[in-house]
Amino acid sequence: RKPISLPRLLEMRLRGEKITMLTAYDATFAAVADAAGVESILVGDSLGMVCQGLHSTVGVSLEHMRYHTEMVSRGLRRAQGTAWLIGDLPFASYQESREQAMRSAAVLMQAGAHMVKLEGGGWTTETVHFLVERGIPVCAHLGLTPQTVHSLGGYRVQGKTQASADTLKKEARALQDAGASMLVLEMVPAPLATELTTELTQCATIGIGAGKGTAGQVLVMHDMLGLNLGKNPKFVRNFMDDAPSIRGAFEAYVAAVKGGQFPDDLVHAW
Ligand code: KIV
Ligand code: NA
Repeated sequence: RKPISLPRLLEMRLRGEKITMLTAYDATFAAVADAAGVESILVGDSLGMVCQGLHSTVGVSLEHMRYHTEMVSRGLRRAQGTAWLIGDLPFASYQESREQAMRSAAVLMQAGAHMVKLEGGGWTTETVHFLVERGIPVCAHLGLTPQTVHSLGGYRVQGKTQASADTLKKEARALQDAGASMLVLEMVPAPLATELTTELTQCATIGIGAGKGTAGQVLVMHDMLGLNLGKNPKFVRNFMDDAPSIRGAFEAYVAAVKGGQFPDDLVHAW
């Protein structure tokens, strides 16, 4: 297998082959996900919740992200993995200035990331442009942006009103124009995510709780393995239910996303 590259991901987007993504935080799970055919691994700052026991991602630091990105990268290399590796820029590591974002992105790239992800709308376009011009591929993130949970008032669906949907569309276009080549859409109505996916041809949309119309899907690994002791979000499926092993669950996820069986249409009443 050849390593997944950015042109390959965009080519999948144009061909309509669904892109699969899972989070991972350590060497072993990253290698197993890769072996199961997951094309992109996100070292998400969901790390705060699933590994560190925090209530939000706000407490995750750049040093935490560097440490876990390095572990995941090493695990992929040791297993001769091919996955595209994305590192999440944590809260307060890119908000101050484009220069601060560049310095933080460099830390994750030097830890082995191929791309960095950052959350937010219009105000991030300058930063995205700055990084992309300097050779750092960027994944944007709109809709429910967990780092701003205290402003949003909770983990809830975004873009439900016409005004907020219009804003989100404008921001998504601006992010593509700024050079973002991937865009996570979290908890937005499926019709809105589908419309954006059709429109953005240079940027692959990756949905989570955004219906099946996006170019790809992402889930937090612990959620899809049924390891979440609290309440799972409605959009999560436990892929361990019918799988004999963790690797089997990852393979079932890949097959379900590729085959259009995940997510299903009925989960959401937007
Ligand atoms: O941190 C994370 O796991 C994420 C995904 C849910 C997209 O940002
Ligand atoms: Na994140």
